[in-house]
Amino acid sequence: MSAAPGGPPSGPPLAAPPVPRPTPELELESLFRLDGKRALLVGGYGGIGEVTTRLLAVHGAEVAVAGRSLEKAEALASELESDGTRAVGARVDLGDRESVEELVRRSVDALGGLDVLVNLAAVDLEAKAEDFGEDEWRAVLDINLSGAFWLSQAVGRVMIESGSGGRIIHFSSTRSVAGGRRGFAAYAASKGGLNTLVKQLATEWGKHGITVNAVGPGFVPTELVEHAVADDRFTTMMLNRIPFGRFGTPAEMAGAVLFLAAPAGGFVTGQILFVDGGVTASS
Ligand SMILES: NC(=O)c1ccc[n+]([C@@H]2O[C@H](COP(=O)([O-])OP(=O)(O)OC[C@H]3O[C@@H](n4cnc5c(N)ncnc54)[C@H](OP(=O)(O)O)[C@@H]3O)[C@@H](O)[C@H]2O)c1
Repeated sequence: MSAAPGGPPSGPPLAAPPVPRPTPELELESLFRLDGKRALLVGGYGGIGEVTTRLLAVHGAEVAVAGRSLEKAEALASELESDGTRAVGARVDLGDRESVEELVRRSVDALGGLDVLVNLAAVDLEAKAEDFGEDEWRAVLDINLSGAFWLSQAVGRVMIESGSGGRIIHFSSTRSVAGGRRGFAAYAASKGGLNTLVKQLATEWGKHGITVNAVGPGFVPTELVEHAVADDRFTTMMLNRIPFGRFGTPAEMAGAVLFLAAPAGGFVTGQILFVDGGVTASS
């Protein structure tokens, strides 16, 4: 491990010209196809996750769906299997590194490898910053940021070993780039850290042909934000801040994932693609 934080990049000197990666020959009709690609979706049966899993399957991907509920993961997988998609369900706790590594091993065993990782798992615990508890802070950071790293590392190793590149797509948030009046200290910090992690991994793993990006949703009514939706004043304030004047939909988030996972997104890396009706543009 290099012990030179902030110093010059480690590794061999840059005297030799880099070996160029082959430029892919893209067929226009398959720009958004994922036939034969094996995708792991963590949080893949959640509000945005379920639609994303279905969309990738419709476009030809084989899928492993995971979350803390094996029952929910297997239910979605068996429904997709009955429609002709190769699919498996698995349990994982993103807050537990061993559980993450076990998930990646089992997904590789089941599908024969991994080409795409979509990480939708996150929790949001809110409190005023002056009152934020240590357990709550750690729980959010452990899942949303550390879990995202351990998951990227385990899948990145598989992709590097395969020599075939890959796509890693995390879920960020508009909260990653601007504060909010609610008690988002841990959630906002975790998503801001995730943005930087995405850029770091994209830079390190470009030479392996692995793209690393995030989708940054605006407000999408799902279980994650149901407590906020119940607050009329909050939803009115949110709607007033969205130039498009409406909330987003899971399908709009899933479409961004498909772009980043498919041949169409093959030269996009290190980006946070905000799908937010103009919120970040106007912040
Ligand atoms: N909805 C929005 O307005 C919004 C806005 C900005 C960003 N986002 C981001 O978009 C992503 C998806 O959000 P969503 O609205 O679809 O949320 P959701 O409906 O709550 O789904 C989250 C998913 O993550 C799983 N999960 C939570 N903790 C986990 C853990 N420790 N280990 C493994 N899986 C875990 C959940 O399943 P289990 O609980 O059963 O494990 C669920 O499948 C999240 O990263 C979120 O931060 C959402």
